[in-house]
Amino acid sequence: MNKILTSLLSLGLACSAALAADAAITAVKVTDSLKAIKADSAVWSKAKFSSVTLYPQTAIEMNDKKANALCENAKAKKAQVAALYDGKSIALMVKWADGTKDLQTGATSTEYSDGFAVQFAGATAKPQPLPYIGMGSVGRPVVVHLQKATEKVYEPNGNKDVSIQVNRQQTDVFGKELAAFDAKVAALAVTDYERVFVGEGFRSLTEIKDGSMKAESAMIYGTSGWIGTLSRPLKDDYVNLSGTVPVSIAVWDGSKMGRNGLKNLSAWIAINLDGQKQNAALIADLTTDSKGNAAKGKEAAESNGCSGCHQMTSADSKSFMAPSLKNVGGYSTASYLRESIVKPSAAIVPGYNRNAHSNTPWYNIEKGKRISTMTDYSHLDKNTLDDIVAYLETLKAEVE
Ligand code: HEC
Repeated sequence: MNKILTSLLSLGLACSAALAADAAITAVKVTDSLKAIKADSAVWSKAKFSSVTLYPQTAIEMNDKKANALCENAKAKKAQVAALYDGKSIALMVKWADGTKDLQTGATSTEYSDGFAVQFAGATAKPQPLPYIGMGSVGRPVVVHLQKATEKVYEPNGNKDVSIQVNRQQTDVFGKELAAFDAKVAALAVTDYERVFVGEGFRSLTEIKDGSMKAESAMIYGTSGWIGTLSRPLKDDYVNLSGTVPVSIAVWDGSKMGRNGLKNLSAWIAINLDGQKQNAALIADLTTDSKGNAAKGKEAAESNGCSGCHQMTSADSKSFMAPSLKNVGGYSTASYLRESIVKPSAAIVPGYNRNAHSNTPWYNIEKGKRISTMTDYSHLDKNTLDDIVAYLETLKAEVE
């Protein structure tokens, strides 16, 4: 704890002792333009920081034993998050401690970078209930802004053609000509890995590349941690933000081989645009815990067979049958957990590659719709449900 505090303080945080854990974030209204805001912009002195806890995402495992082993008992991390808005844009700053600066520096596939992402609920006719926290769900899209700490990375499958880089040995050029060749290749490298995606569930991410997204993100390494910034329009083709804005924050740790789903993720948290009418129902939805009894819920989960399919805690064996629930309480709201139990098909966790794990699909397709393979528990009485949800809320890693 001390180590974290010291490193957060050395990031230059205005860290007040009375920080409520995961309270809503207040976006302070400013008159300065936030369009090209950077981490060192003076306007950040007007911002208020709130503490947000990011839990290891453990719903599905990576297909990489080494990475899984490194993250086996990953802890939760604290981030400090602030927001500002002007008439047109919203800007976020995310600070988190990370003892090693991991940059992607080349074409190797064994090197992973630190990174962060901010996820917004995408514009739908009915914004509630919220999308599934892990990249959205069918009919409930999310917009994900991703920034990776990249010094130089070549993307053979991206827009830039680097075939000439791959064939350096076969160029048959030397001296000046080879230097010119290398310079040409270097110019093709991506040095600012900033991407925006829309998603409706794991592996459904589609990058927005048609110029319709006007966002700016960046990250800089301080004395012992990262400062990430993002600015984006309040309103565009993908979101329409006002009043109370649900967001979720993720960070990746390159030294733990973090990438894709292997990350730390917050639950949906509310950003209140100061001075605008807040959405009380949404805030209540995000912050209200179950009134049930967790100890009774643990028994009810056992007697109802939940652990037959799910890994509930690290002590249980892993299972391909269903998502691991060992951190589900960290990144889920009580209402999401309740919905998952009584309406399993409302928001589906898509699970593993369906070809590789064809014996344990997490959903079947019936009449073009995804139907969860989870037992329907809508018959459970209200108290039992409250108890189970209270129990699930306790399933989460400690803060490192
Ligand atoms: C027959 C196997 C099975 C049983 C029994 C089962 N589940 Fe599930 N559960 C699944 C599958 C498969 C999914 C992923 C598909 C989906 O989202 O519905 C899932 C998803 C979930 C999720 C969402 C997880 C996430 O990462 O967002 C929660 C919460 C959950 N189950 C809780 C429970 C509880 C509580 C019980 C017992 C009351 C239970 N499950 C019993 C198979 C099962």
